[in-house]
Amino acid sequence: MKKVAFIGWRGMVGSVLMDRMREEKDFTGFEPVFFTTSQLGQNGPDVGFGPAPLCDAFDTEKLSRMDIIVTCQGSDHTKEVHPKLRSMGWKGYWIDAASALRMNEDSIIVLDPVNRDVIDRGLASGVKDYIGGNCTVSLMLMAIGGLFREGLVEWLTSMTYQAASGAGAKNMRELVEQMNIIAKGAGPLLENPSSAILDLDRNVSETIRGGAFPAANFGAPLAGSLIPWIDSLMPETGQTREEWKGYSETNKILGNAAPVPIDGICVRVGAMRCHSQGFTIKLKKDLHIDEVTAIIARSSKWTKIIGNTKEETLKGLSPAAVSGTLTVPVGRIRKMNIGPGYVAAFTSGDQLLWGAAEPIRRMLKIVLDHLG
Ligand code: HSE
Repeated sequence: MKKVAFIGWRGMVGSVLMDRMREEKDFTGFEPVFFTTSQLGQNGPDVGFGPAPLCDAFDTEKLSRMDIIVTCQGSDHTKEVHPKLRSMGWKGYWIDAASALRMNEDSIIVLDPVNRDVIDRGLASGVKDYIGGNCTVSLMLMAIGGLFREGLVEWLTSMTYQAASGAGAKNMRELVEQMNIIAKGAGPLLENPSSAILDLDRNVSETIRGGAFPAANFGAPLAGSLIPWIDSLMPETGQTREEWKGYSETNKILGNAAPVPIDGICVRVGAMRCHSQGFTIKLKKDLHIDEVTAIIARSSKWTKIIGNTKEETLKGLSPAAVSGTLTVPVGRIRKMNIGPGYVAAFTSGDQLLWGAAEPIRRMLKIVLDHLG
């Protein structure tokens, strides 16, 4: 029986992965071995085999006995352990949610509903590192990957509305704390329906600009505001790293020989775990909007077209509607008045599911099937 290591299974992405694996009854046909960076001596989770003591996630000798390693531990751990294992001659499969190895020449970014062909070619040619993509990129391709598959995209901009979860669990907590402090400060004015709206507004502004406002993780107010900066500066282009990934990762996922230009501004907003994106898509052909919609609908089994009406949009095209589900709605699909071949679309998707855990869960199954 193949041995599969799980590292980082207790963190936010790891917990979503464990939940999804339990839900899908994935814990069969292999021996799971749970590793830890911080809880050595304690028992791992019971996934149907009884609890077993956790192993040390830095014990490369033990890790090298695994056929597959699935990790959601993060890039620092990957950078420390992965090169050691490979230099020891370990030939197992490394499936990783972190970004550290994503752009390596000998790794594949996994999003099998979109690039199963690239994955299969990788498996056949002996690629051993399979890395989950950036959440925004994966969700974009789950939404409108059909247009890329048909070779229709001349270029694309994605303006993003990214949730707190993309920045981490502490940030989600901070967002709710910020909301709580705003609500507490505004309480008396809010309770009095005849209070002046500009007084309420001033109260909120003073709270979020105040020195006591909790913003240690985001570095700025998010509740009642937004942050048009995600990750570090790429000095040569002025993009943020998140914006740079849109181009580099998308083209790598698709295995494009001729890269499609993609750019945009990435913005953090006060959603909890769903990233949204507004697209301007320049098509190579000025197709009828019904045809564009039909191609988008074929992007994946989980892609759902939302009709361009207020009612359907409010019901189905928002973080509130999508959170905790695998559905990737795409709506506001319409021709733009900029010129022929310009199409607008909007999507929202769960950043912890398709954006992180789900491609990893599915890749483990693909590798297990490949190994027979
Ligand atoms: N970098 C993303 C974000 C999340 O900050 O929202 C991970 O892909």
